[in-house]
Amino acid sequence: MKATISKIRSMKGKEKITMLTAYDYFTAKAMDEEGIDIILIGDSLGMVVLGYENTLSVTVDDIMRHTGAVARASKNALIVADMPVNSYNDNESAALNAEAFIKSGADNVKIENNPEIAKFLVENNFEVMAHIGLTPQTITDFKVQGKEKSSEIKLINLAKELENAGCYSIVLECVPAMLAKKITESISIPTIGIGAGPYCDGQVLVVNDILGLYDKLSPKFVKKYADLGKEMKNAFKSYIKDVKQGNFPKEEHSFH
Ligand code: KIV
Repeated sequence: MKATISKIRSMKGKEKITMLTAYDYFTAKAMDEEGIDIILIGDSLGMVVLGYENTLSVTVDDIMRHTGAVARASKNALIVADMPVNSYNDNESAALNAEAFIKSGADNVKIENNPEIAKFLVENNFEVMAHIGLTPQTITDFKVQGKEKSSEIKLINLAKELENAGCYSIVLECVPAMLAKKITESISIPTIGIGAGPYCDGQVLVVNDILGLYDKLSPKFVKKYADLGKEMKNAFKSYIKDVKQGNFPKEEHSFH
């Protein structure tokens, strides 16, 4: 059954929410068939698919194209399009771009920080997932956020503001586990952690990280469930060797 916002909201405190990024049809289809709750077309696309250094070169068109591919594959998961940098600088462009993502197949959108834009989008009938903590569109120094008392209080207040703005969930990235617990307990919408410890209402990771398909960074919070990068290299090596040595194609691969 297709996941809905009210289902995701109702899972808080009862059942852990599972979320992964996906950018293409086949990966999305596989995780959808295995029962993932939410698929995010993250702007991590920039690094893990498009080969940029960070998320800052990702465009609205990039997210639209990949959202289409993911949406065509997904029967049950809730589809979230990540609004890339500069696509929600003001109310008008936020609404215009959110509309484009919904037309591409997303059910709703994610933005970093920004309670004012979140409120405007919600008032204009868009559902919004927020993202706080280490927010790669504005923080390029990849370190744990909210370690000092003052930044801890700021993050708790920001989470409350985003809840009041009408967001239906909040991604907490790279914050201490006990701060994630405090935030989770102080708001009534689900928190979804990445590098935020075990006390969030759900968990998200970048699919390329869990499959061993991205080796430029290996953050402590990632658990690798497969080593497809190594498998791919082995397959390519064997193919190249077979063709060079005349072992492929053979009689059984030929038409007569
Ligand atoms: O872009 C992304 O993949 C994300 C997740 C890390 C939450 O925002």
